[in-house]
Formats: sequence, structure tokens, C-alpha cells
Amino acid sequence: MTQGRFIALEGGEGAGKSTQARLLADALRIRGFDVVTTREPGGTPGAEAIRALLLNGVEGDGGESWNPRAEALLFAAARSDHVHRLIRPALARGAWVICDRYLDSSRAYQGGGGGLSDADIATLHDIGSDGLLPDLTLLVEVSPAIAVQRLALRDTEGSDRIGGRDAGYHARVASAFSAFADEEPARFARIDGDGDPQATHALVVAALARFLP
Ligand code: TYD
Repeated sequence: MTQGRFIALEGGEGAGKSTQARLLADALRIRGFDVVTTREPGGTPGAEAIRALLLNGVEGDGGESWNPRAEALLFAAARSDHVHRLIRPALARGAWVICDRYLDSSRAYQGGGGGLSDADIATLHDIGSDGLLPDLTLLVEVSPAIAVQRLALRDTEGSDRIGGRDAGYHARVASAFSAFADEEPARFARIDGDGDPQATHALVVAALARFLP
């Protein structure tokens, strides 16, 4: 049995993570690996139900729906279900798991952007998911002008509850991601996402070289 690897893709809105997750999964399948692609919040029926609460808000409450702590707890609860029902079993059978967003999004959005401490987010992750971390986190970084262009093409029907927050919030998120990559160079690879999808994919494959036979 080959050893499964857990790879997370992280970055701001419009970075191209989903496209890169798809290209990476295809490249690994061609090499004969069992690959599971998934996303957060979501990935299991329970976590997808929580995703809808988080991103759409709750009809009729007329406001922000979730205070920052409730929001962080909901992300941690969704992740707990996802880790226990999908990610751990896949890794245990030797599959690769490619996850579009994971814990570092909670650290950047609910922590850096939303004001909870990094220690609080880590505690929630320990309780919910036994602190499971990816083998490698690919941080896809794009310049702000390119992200705006891509979002204009993608979000033609408007953005969700979190994506629609102001530019200052998203700037704090971006600098939080960048600081995490600096603090943990062994767990992160920074990927320049400004180029076309194939150029970015080549950088992703190069970053994974140490895991490939
Ligand atoms: P999604 O449409 O999947 O965003 P994108 O395509 O930009 O990756 O929506 C996920 C949103 O949830 C996104 O705005 C980031 C946010 N998020 C958090 O705030 N905390 C988290 O822990 C996760 C996983 C996502």
C-alpha cells in the first residue's frame, strides 16, 4: 500500500485554488494514486449543511447571523465531521487527500481577519479534529489586481457572507496567510498564482517533489 498524503490548498478569494486542486488530482491519478478531492467548509453531508449556514447566513435574522466566536465554532464543527468521516479514513487506506482550504483558513479568516487568537483556533482544532495537520499546505498567492479580475468573472451573482467582507478584512487575511508560511516553512509551500493555470500547476508539482516517487 502506498502512503497517503494530506495536501491542503490555501489562499484568498480568486487565487485559483479549486482549479489547482483539480489539476493536481488529475496529475496524481495519472501516476496511479488513489486521490480524494474535497473542500472546506464541507466535504461530508453534515459539513456541507454547516457550510450553507456559514456562507448563506440564516434567513430572517436580518443581521450578520453569526458572531465571530460562533462562526469559528461552526467551522471547527464542520472540520471535525470532515476529518473523522472522510479525511482520516482516506489517509488510512493510503489515498491522497487534496483539500481546498483547511485549518489555516480558520486561522487567517476567523483569527487574522476576524479577531480570535491563534491559540483559540488551535484549541478548537484540537478538540474537534485531534489537531490533524496537512503534510503540506500550498499557499496560492495572487496580486490583488488579478484576484479582483478573477472574482469579477466568477462571482457574477455576488459573493457569499465571508467573501463579501471589505477589502481591509481580506488584506488582513492575506497577511495572516503570509505570516503562517514564514513561521512554518516546512509545512508550507508558497505558490505564485499570477500565471496561467498550467504555469501554476507546474509550481505545485515541483513543490510536491519530495512526496513523489
Ligand atoms: P468558497 O466559495 O469555497 O471560497 P473560495 O472559492 O474563495 O475558496 O467559500 C469559502 C469561504 O469560507 C471563503 O470566503 C473562506 C471562508 N472560510 C473561513 O472563513 N474559514 C475557514 O475555516 C474556511 C475553511 C473557509
